[in-house]
Amino acid sequence: MSALTNGSGPVPADAFAHPSKPHLEDDGTSAFENYKRLHAQSIKNPQEFWGSLARDLLTWSRDFDIVRRGSLERGDLSWFLGGELNACYNCVDRHAFANPDKVALIYEADEPEHGRVLTYDDLLREVCQLSYVLKDMGVKKGDTVAIYMPMVPEAIIALLACVRIGAVHSVIFAGFSSDSLRDRINDAKCKVVLTANESKRGGKTHAIKHIVDKALVECPAVTSVLVFKRTESEVQWIPGRDHWWQDVVKKWPAYIAPERMNAEDPLFLLYTSGSTGKPKGVLHSTGGYLVGAAATGKYVFDIHDTDSFFCGGDIGWITGHTYVVYAPLLLGVSTIVFEGSPMYPNPSRYWDIIDKHNVTHFYVAPTALRLLKKSGDQHVTGDRAHLRVLGSVGEPIAPEVWKWYFEVVGKGQAQIVDTYWQTETGSHVIAPLAGATPTKPGAASFPFFGIEPAILDAATGEEIDGANVEGVLAFKQAWPSMARTVWGAHDRYMDTYLRPFKGYYYTGDGASRDKDGFYWIGGRMDDIINVSGHRISTAEIEAALIEDFTVAEAAVVAVQDEITGQASVAFLTLKDHRAVTPEIRDELILQVRRTIGPFAAPKRIYVVDDLPKTRSGKIMRRVLRKILAGEEDQLGDTSTLSDPTVVERIIAAVKAGP
Ligand code: PRX
Repeated sequence: MSALTNGSGPVPADAFAHPSKPHLEDDGTSAFENYKRLHAQSIKNPQEFWGSLARDLLTWSRDFDIVRRGSLERGDLSWFLGGELNACYNCVDRHAFANPDKVALIYEADEPEHGRVLTYDDLLREVCQLSYVLKDMGVKKGDTVAIYMPMVPEAIIALLACVRIGAVHSVIFAGFSSDSLRDRINDAKCKVVLTANESKRGGKTHAIKHIVDKALVECPAVTSVLVFKRTESEVQWIPGRDHWWQDVVKKWPAYIAPERMNAEDPLFLLYTSGSTGKPKGVLHSTGGYLVGAAATGKYVFDIHDTDSFFCGGDIGWITGHTYVVYAPLLLGVSTIVFEGSPMYPNPSRYWDIIDKHNVTHFYVAPTALRLLKKSGDQHVTGDRAHLRVLGSVGEPIAPEVWKWYFEVVGKGQAQIVDTYWQTETGSHVIAPLAGATPTKPGAASFPFFGIEPAILDAATGEEIDGANVEGVLAFKQAWPSMARTVWGAHDRYMDTYLRPFKGYYYTGDGASRDKDGFYWIGGRMDDIINVSGHRISTAEIEAALIEDFTVAEAAVVAVQDEITGQASVAFLTLKDHRAVTPEIRDELILQVRRTIGPFAAPKRIYVVDDLPKTRSGKIMRRVLRKILAGEEDQLGDTSTLSDPTVVERIIAAVKAGP
């Protein structure tokens, strides 16, 4: 009988085969008790706890004087002050010196038969050569560099070269449109853009240099574009501005010294959706972020020296930053760089990669798992005996998907870690520790070290103590890898995270705590939706739709979707009460694809003659959500609507279909 089918209680962590001892081992006291003791220490004495972990996990060129300063209330936190270190040295040099032939990157190209392997020695050389190129293009310490690249080793090399010379990378997911790219380049004032001529995914090519060219028409500050030649296709070229990657890197020597950085110097910017307005450039600092990445890699994933880590996330999102690049490289293990899609050339692709490279850790979003589960168990081939930890991230994992992951993918041998965190938290904040803490299907489980969760009453802000309680999720203490600010908008940072509940970091998510102290994540409390693990603001989609000259008003709401988790549905009124045609509908979808990116396109569009609005003009999205869910009998109080009859007409429009 598998551990899971053994009743409905928590699954103990020692129910799993473990070839090496977990870092948090059972030493007479159970590993779970050890976790509780260490967690209590991290909360009671964060200075001592994080000070010793930071010295243990990272190499500092100057030791820090103080571990933490500032408060959540004031929003002025800084960590490891006086300390100096270089992120690239910690990810590459120290391993290249100790173990030059150890594999650092395993590139699995979109085409299954292609790829390459880079040792730590190779990685150091390639990063150094690119560092010279960036310097030659005028990039200096503190400058920002835009990276718009597919999942090829050069993308990881790009991040590392930036941080080696003290530049701040700003990766923009290569599925974003030229408008989104333009806005992010301009907001961060980037002068250099790194890209590829084309990207390849799922057997298809995408002309990403063309998107960069379009964006740059309105980015006057950009002086240089470095283009990695991924395919043989020719692209439009601006002499003087554009340079082929492969041509220029080879001109430079194999070593350049890393820049000495202060612990609080910015490491990177990553734009993410807020509930209102334009995307925010979330800023992470060097020392704190690296400590969070290394500590969660070591304790949540229980990474050991000889492991091969496969995170299926794209470097365009935080998951790719922390768990394709920083955590595995800081810990000196091999990381898989997968360019393709889980369905190409067939639904066995992930499992083939896992077997081919003796992967020990696999980490992916539930949306991919739902798709693969639906494709049928016959595709889940191979023995996967080496697989020890299976991670889930980005959205809630339904218990039946959790069980499928555990029983069919992991064959009951690997521990599932459902990791809850955000772009802003930098690394896991609520997650099991593989091999050490018990799990329950669907629960993110327990707080990581240094995280002191609180469930708050949304209306009063009062903390709700005890078991079996539900509310909004907030944290009472700062932790090293929390974002320091929103680029150029510290007030927005304060308003979003630290002012809603004074003295707490507000996550924006709802959560509950059960009788055993497990935390269960409920979902966003704001207008952010999660489509295939991609975070999108409904306000941003509405703004994109309203830009179209035909649209008068737009309201976008989320519906549940079997594969993508959530999907967006748009309700629109058109100007001059014009009738919708298939052409207008296509144009509106295109409008969102153009303005944000293809992944943000609404699943359905309903054109109606009016939206449900209060007398003061506020759109009641709750009514739209209920109608879409088929819960017309639970609309609640609609007497405040300026025209209650609109409800019947919207119900009819939904029944008639988009
Ligand atoms: O709503 C939560 C959801 O994803 C949001 C953060 O999105 P993003 O910044 O794009 O980062 C995603 C990858 C870390 C959260 O506010 N979320 C993330 N992980 C989980 C989750 N929801 C439920 N369970 C999770 N494990």
